[in-house]
Amino acid sequence: MNMFPFLRRDKTAGKQKHQQPRNSFSSFIMRLPSALLALLPSSSPPLPSTTSLSLPSTTPAPLATSAPTACNGHPELCNRAYSNITQIGAHDSAFVGPLPQDNQNLDLTSQLNAGIRFLQAQTHLDALGTLSLCHTTCLEKDAGPLTTYLSTLKTWLDANPSEVLTLLLVNGDNLKASAFDTAYTTSGLKPYAYTPPKPHLALDEWPTLQDLIKANTRLIAFLDAGADTTSVPYLLDEFTYFFETPYDTTDPSFPQCTLDRPPHATADGRMYIVNHFLDVDIGGGILIPDRTALDTTNAATGKGSIGAQADLCVGLYGRGPVGVLVDFFDQGDVFTAQNRLNRLA
Ligand SMILES: *[C@@H]1O[C@H](CO)[C@@H](O)[C@H](O)[C@H]1NC(C)=O
Repeated sequence: MNMFPFLRRDKTAGKQKHQQPRNSFSSFIMRLPSALLALLPSSSPPLPSTTSLSLPSTTPAPLATSAPTACNGHPELCNRAYSNITQIGAHDSAFVGPLPQDNQNLDLTSQLNAGIRFLQAQTHLDALGTLSLCHTTCLEKDAGPLTTYLSTLKTWLDANPSEVLTLLLVNGDNLKASAFDTAYTTSGLKPYAYTPPKPHLALDEWPTLQDLIKANTRLIAFLDAGADTTSVPYLLDEFTYFFETPYDTTDPSFPQCTLDRPPHATADGRMYIVNHFLDVDIGGGILIPDRTALDTTNAATGKGSIGAQADLCVGLYGRGPVGVLVDFFDQGDVFTAQNRLNRLA
């Protein structure tokens, strides 16, 4: 049985009261003898030293003066609203490696350099009380402090002035928004975070990519739980702005685009995130990422592909997803799928 029924392998917010946690890799880990546990590496490959050691700047990043010629790599996207652009997202972007609890092959900077502009990452407190990138628990996977991750993003945004990023953090231990604000401040990333001019933006009120680039507010930051925009205005509440389709999918055909969270919500007025990553049940309901089907799961078209599930979604909601979260984005053809969804050549 699961010794920590309040812990889930993945995301918890919005679901706890309504659904029993399923068995997960973490409960499997919890049952392993400690001698075996000691054999499991707990840290991911080191971040490049040039990024992880950079000091936060004390002044806000300078404003871009002229209009960008391309936005997120495409001139056609400059005048499109943030809410009208589909981005492939790296699900569990910090969990990099070959183990069952890993979701990506490439580290954060490599993800960004390859074209990923939407990042999802899960946080927990480690044993010392440091806000860290951990998979359900810091025993299962500890990918280091959140500040290191955010510093890497800051360095990358500094070097790439026409790029807009989305960061969706899972607040696994239900901390206050101020804990995240501290990490954003320490890392120097905070000046890049976009703050909406009013408490809630409707779908058609989001700025364009060009607006965000010109204002140099090129990070749209969400928390899945614990957001408090009266005290930390730039950490936006995910489920105010988005709904999500189900995760823990084990059907490789991804036959649905159902609204799963927030519970009892409607799609009206919300952007949405499609969870397009496939798990495999390794027994007893323990789910781990399926690495064997990536050629079809991460394909642009065809049964079970990103495109096929997105087509279902567009049919249901009349608009495309803003985020499509995938595992192992470097396998398959995710940017072809993204371009197709954005109607780019
Ligand atoms: C953007 O708007 C177009 C035209 O209304 C629509 O077809 C497309 O699905 C929208 N994309 C997103 C991500 O909202």
